[in-house]
Amino acid sequence: MEQTTTPPRTRPRRTPPSTTDRPARLVVLVSGSGSNLQALIDACADPAYGAQVVAVGADRDGIEGLARGERAGAETFVHRVRDYAERADWDAALTASVASYEPDLVVSAGFLKLVGSEFLTAFADRYVNTHNSLLPSFVGIHGPRDALAYGVKVAGATLFFVDHGVDTGPIIAQVAVPVLDDDDEDTLTERIKQAERRQLVDAVGAMVREGWTIDGRKVTIG
Ligand code: GRF
Repeated sequence: MEQTTTPPRTRPRRTPPSTTDRPARLVVLVSGSGSNLQALIDACADPAYGAQVVAVGADRDGIEGLARGERAGAETFVHRVRDYAERADWDAALTASVASYEPDLVVSAGFLKLVGSEFLTAFADRYVNTHNSLLPSFVGIHGPRDALAYGVKVAGATLFFVDHGVDTGPIIAQVAVPVLDDDDEDTLTERIKQAERRQLVDAVGAMVREGWTIDGRKVTIG
């Protein structure tokens, strides 16, 4: 008779709060305007928030996100995929740069690159991404446009842990906004971004102050 086996249950992985004697160290990755980064920078100005943006990394030069980091006194670094012979070499360089800042949490905030295995291994359970749709709907880079095209009445943003898939990792937080009859891509994108920034600030602050647990797909803060 064929034996059936139950796969071993993965143990919940708990990350404790950052130590109370120093702010949590955030490294933020960006590819564009960096308004989510700015929301984190502004929140970090309050010592009670419990975090500090120590570095901002990008996959391209000359973007406002890097300028925001510099103005805030954070270190910045750029790794362009096209400067590396292999994608894995880019991934290794990105991993090394981020690791050099000893982050408690790495935040992808409008970073338009999928990282590779080396990065995911180095920052397992502490690499989060904010995406402008209510996952699992509308993965990819055109969340608001795809939501409008589908005709949904509610859109929103999702903060999740990055895994090997595209927008598939365990969900930390979600926020919904209405889709209005006269919305176009710009108006819906902006409404989502306002809610998304608040969510990012609230969730990251709670995570670093209270710690988090990932149990399968279920994420608990505190
Ligand atoms: C965010 O809405 C994010 O969800 C999407 O790109 C946007 C980045 O905006 N992937 P910003 O650069 O933080 O202003």
